[in-house]
Amino acid sequence: MTDRIYARIAGTGSYLPAQVVTNDELAKRVETSDEWIRTRTGIRQRHVAAEGETTVDLAYQASLRALEAAGTTPEEIDLIILGTTTPDLIFPSSACLLQHRLGANGCPAFDVNAACSGFVYALTVADKFIRSGAAKTVLVVGAETLTRMLDWTDRSTCVLFGDGAGAVVLKADSETGILSTHLHADGGKKELLWNPVGVSAGFKPEEHNAGVRVLMTGNEVFKHAVKALDSVVEETLEANGLDRHEIDWLIPHQANLRIIEATAKRLDMPMERVIVTVDKHGNTSSGSVPLALDEAVRSGKVQRGQLLLLEAFGGGFTWGSALLRY
Ligand code: COA
Repeated sequence: MTDRIYARIAGTGSYLPAQVVTNDELAKRVETSDEWIRTRTGIRQRHVAAEGETTVDLAYQASLRALEAAGTTPEEIDLIILGTTTPDLIFPSSACLLQHRLGANGCPAFDVNAACSGFVYALTVADKFIRSGAAKTVLVVGAETLTRMLDWTDRSTCVLFGDGAGAVVLKADSETGILSTHLHADGGKKELLWNPVGVSAGFKPEEHNAGVRVLMTGNEVFKHAVKALDSVVEETLEANGLDRHEIDWLIPHQANLRIIEATAKRLDMPMERVIVTVDKHGNTSSGSVPLALDEAVRSGKVQRGQLLLLEAFGGGFTWGSALLRY
């Protein structure tokens, strides 16, 4: 008999902007090809937010769907955490804007910026709130409009990213839910993947004529991502005394199919048990894991009672995992 409290996923939701941009369309703008993008990344298309459509707009739609799936009203939410690196404003936080839009007035709301690991970081914080008894119903969102800060003339980055949002409603539960989370960061590698525009430091866009854009040394990021994800997957298995074959589904960050395949191989997991959406969405940063989770739930692949391993890697560097019984 245990009196442990778990954070159980009560409902999931996601939202993608209507506009789809295919690889062939990108090949009209920069020196690239559908074949190059597909073979190096697995990406076929990405969604791009419409003019005036913001991160909070995407987060709001995903949240409504997650709340509906969980049978929860906005008044019941007692904490909102939003993972994003493309907030609507510098402040107030996008979580505050979302809270107001949802009418979840009064509950605490804040953003977490861990680049592409934003959702896993946000989920971890939410789990701690629920486990400690400080919250019972938490809305956790990953939402991005990363295409807003791409250099559309840089073929090494503009083909990789897309816009989108995913959300989960977590509820305190005495039976099952999130079993463990594991977070890491290494700020020493910041210049391999970053947007160097800043408020109190960094480039000033008007001085550098650079605009606001993502800069990346792709092949270095690739190597660090594979290594970091290998290690966090091992750490998660060990912390839970699990054999790799006990995991039902791997729900990875969707940056590159080859990175996903490397993690699956490490887990000796057939690709049939890995959720892959990168082909349709590209890398939606913080949106990617909850988008993939929602798609897996709604398609009926992921069933109640199954063991899920979520993982992510992003700029910072940041990386992490969450093991949960769905
Ligand atoms: N189309 C055609 N050629 C391209 C290209 C594109 N979109 N982007 C880069 N290239 C070229 C490069 O200019 C380079 O040409 P060169 O050999 O003449 O200099 C060549 O392709 C190889 O570049 P490289 O960067 O070594 O390729 P790669 O095999 O590492 O693939 C990535 C590039 C970006 C797809 C890959 O490194 C990657 O996915 N990295 C991880 C990025 C990531 O996931 N970031 C987010 C993490 S959250």
